[in-house]
Amino acid sequence: MQKQLTFVCLLAIFLGTTQMVASQIIGLGRCPRNIKTVEDFDATKYLGTWYEYSKYPFIFEFGAKCVTAEYGAINSTEISVVNTQISSLNSKQSIDGIAKIVGPGKLAVSFNGLAALAGAADYWVLATDYENYAVVYSCKNIALTHATFVWILTRERVPSADIINAAKDALVSQNISLSELSETDQSDC
Ligand SMILES: *[C@@H]1O[C@H](CO)[C@@H](O)[C@H](O)[C@H]1NC(C)=O
Ligand SMILES: *[C@@H]1O[C@H](CO)[C@@H](O)[C@H](O)[C@H]1NC(C)=O
Repeated sequence: MQKQLTFVCLLAIFLGTTQMVASQIIGLGRCPRNIKTVEDFDATKYLGTWYEYSKYPFIFEFGAKCVTAEYGAINSTEISVVNTQISSLNSKQSIDGIAKIVGPGKLAVSFNGLAALAGAADYWVLATDYENYAVVYSCKNIALTHATFVWILTRERVPSADIINAAKDALVSQNISLSELSETDQSDC
């Protein structure tokens, strides 16, 4: 149990779009099996900067803000990842890693340094139009429960309501709850 809890904490810390901000919801039973990812996912169009608009709620580091993810091409199966944020103590932090494309819309992300301890984490793209929003999902079975992680990423730091509604619709269509989503502070970055 201790070991599992440690693992969950590590996962929570490192699966988040940044090293210090974690977001997860623990539910009973196994991860749902019928989650659909973007079948014709185009990694090239997905590259570049994304702003974290919202995610499943923070557990650690309540004050972190200005969270961004930068994806770059390595080759046809690997993408570089740099996540940055401004901590509650007002310092800029970043962590980098690699995302491997393991299936249509399915990536496995692993980070360098200490974060490597957590191993690779699922990063499933449930929906994206590449130019405005992306909906990212991850679920991990832990004994009789599962931890769910959700992020809405946007190309604009302050996206329009239409864009956010499109992202939320993608979650609702797969029965993924919106109520745990909390907005990321992207002001004064
Ligand atoms: C992509 O680059 C990695 C090294 O970062 C290498 O291990 C892998 O074989 C490369 N894949 C292809 C398809 O070139
Ligand atoms: C969502 O939930 C409804 C009602 O429980 C069910 O009928 C539907 O099949 C579910 N849809 C998906 C995509 O899981």
